[in-house]
Amino acid sequence: MPDTLTIIDNRTDLRYELPIHQGTIRTMDLRKIQAFPGDFGLMGYDPAFMNTASCQSAVTFIDGDKGILRYRGYGIEQLAEKCSFLEVAYLLLFGELPTASELQAWVSTITHHTMLHETTKKFLEGFRYDAHPMGMFISTVAALSTVYPDARDVHDPAVRQLQICRLIGKVPTIAAYTYRHSLGYPYVYPDNELTYPANFLNMLWKMVEPKYQANPTLARALDILLILHADHEQNCSTNVMRSVGSSQADPFVSVAAAAAALSGPLHGGANEEVLRMLDEIGSKERVWAYIQQVKAGHGKLMGFGHRVYKNYDPRARVIKWTADQVFQVTGRNPKLEIAIELERIALDDEYFVKRKLYPNVDFYSGIIYQAMGFQPEMFTVLFAIPRTVGWLAQWQEMIQDPEQKIARPRQVFVGKESRQFVPIEQRGSQAARAASPNV
Ligand SMILES: CC(C)(COP(=O)(O)OP(=O)(O)OC[C@H]1O[C@@H](n2cnc3c(N)ncnc32)[C@H](O)[C@@H]1OP(=O)(O)O)[C@@H](O)C(=O)NCCC(=O)NCCS
Repeated sequence: MPDTLTIIDNRTDLRYELPIHQGTIRTMDLRKIQAFPGDFGLMGYDPAFMNTASCQSAVTFIDGDKGILRYRGYGIEQLAEKCSFLEVAYLLLFGELPTASELQAWVSTITHHTMLHETTKKFLEGFRYDAHPMGMFISTVAALSTVYPDARDVHDPAVRQLQICRLIGKVPTIAAYTYRHSLGYPYVYPDNELTYPANFLNMLWKMVEPKYQANPTLARALDILLILHADHEQNCSTNVMRSVGSSQADPFVSVAAAAAALSGPLHGGANEEVLRMLDEIGSKERVWAYIQQVKAGHGKLMGFGHRVYKNYDPRARVIKWTADQVFQVTGRNPKLEIAIELERIALDDEYFVKRKLYPNVDFYSGIIYQAMGFQPEMFTVLFAIPRTVGWLAQWQEMIQDPEQKIARPRQVFVGKESRQFVPIEQRGSQAARAASPNV
């Protein structure tokens, strides 16, 4: 069976044979299909990239129908159970799991990049007391570009590696400072004796005690949450990372742009929305009525549905298990009852079954974060810390891919054709045009 696609253009009766490689055709091959000599050629029209691959990637694999997620070939469940977050970060960035000595060196390197320049700390202090932590996070990551101008040399592998370590080391520090800022607490410097998650908890919650002791169950739960959120192939923010990075912008501003994409309620902002929704529902008894409202077209069930998963999100399963561990320390979050009831009713309802809408990663993560003591405003920042690793792994892959150029989609122009210029005194007002649109 030949791996080709035959297209007959009914406008010209011409036949074209396009190669198929890995289940795709090259959209550029469509350009050969012209209606007349000199025609621009056929393009693909695909708003929101519903069926367009923008790159070849070896980082993360998702089978949305089967509910499979793998980083570099390893199932997410195994990684969450057996690895630390920094071990997984190494895997995502370098393609292989580290040996014991490689891991030790890697952890030490990241640990020695956790401090922020004092001017960056002062920069953070300038935000209003009620600034949203995600706004502070995005701006401060972008501001790092002014501290490390060497980062602009994106074609030097050693320079890239240094910025990657800086970013992975510093994002928890920035995240913790945004949290302390919201509360009006003094910032806590990193503690190099602690693990990555324990140090993050230290920077968040240390008060006057001389040495912060993280609860090991909470530190491990946080580490698992970091692993689950580390990468998710070509999602909205990763696409932004690759797109901004394709102009050879430095990785700090590119990560800031990706984090901005993450902040939206349809992406990483969804976990914050889930908590608001659970608050709005208020009690288990009101879940059914809320679902009827959603089915009638009033809003969405936040934390449900996914562009790629048309099955249970494998991360949601691990999160549910992690929630049990956390609740043993913190006590059960009463919102869990509402969430479980919501999941039970929705998974049994034809509307959700027909559309293959299942709980996604954001459905339970917010409930855990809240039980740990975070305000909903912090949730997306907690997502951005591990996703920084995924963004960087994808960015590095993009920079090294000889096929990648500056990202620049095409458009289908539907505006006015060429018009005669109208002098200002002869122009009709917006209101007049609206009243008689054909004038
Ligand atoms: C994630 C999401 C943006 C994916 O969107 P998408 O792939 O463009 O899917 P669509 O919006 O085309 O949804 C397909 C259908 O399911 C419905 N749908 C999707 N998500 C829904 C939800 N959470 N609640 C209710 N209905 C939903 C849509 O209304 C649409 O119905 P229709 O065919 O009758 O018009 C979407 O499911 C969503 O908004 N979910 C809530 C936000 C969320 O949890 N985001 C986190 C993602 S990790």
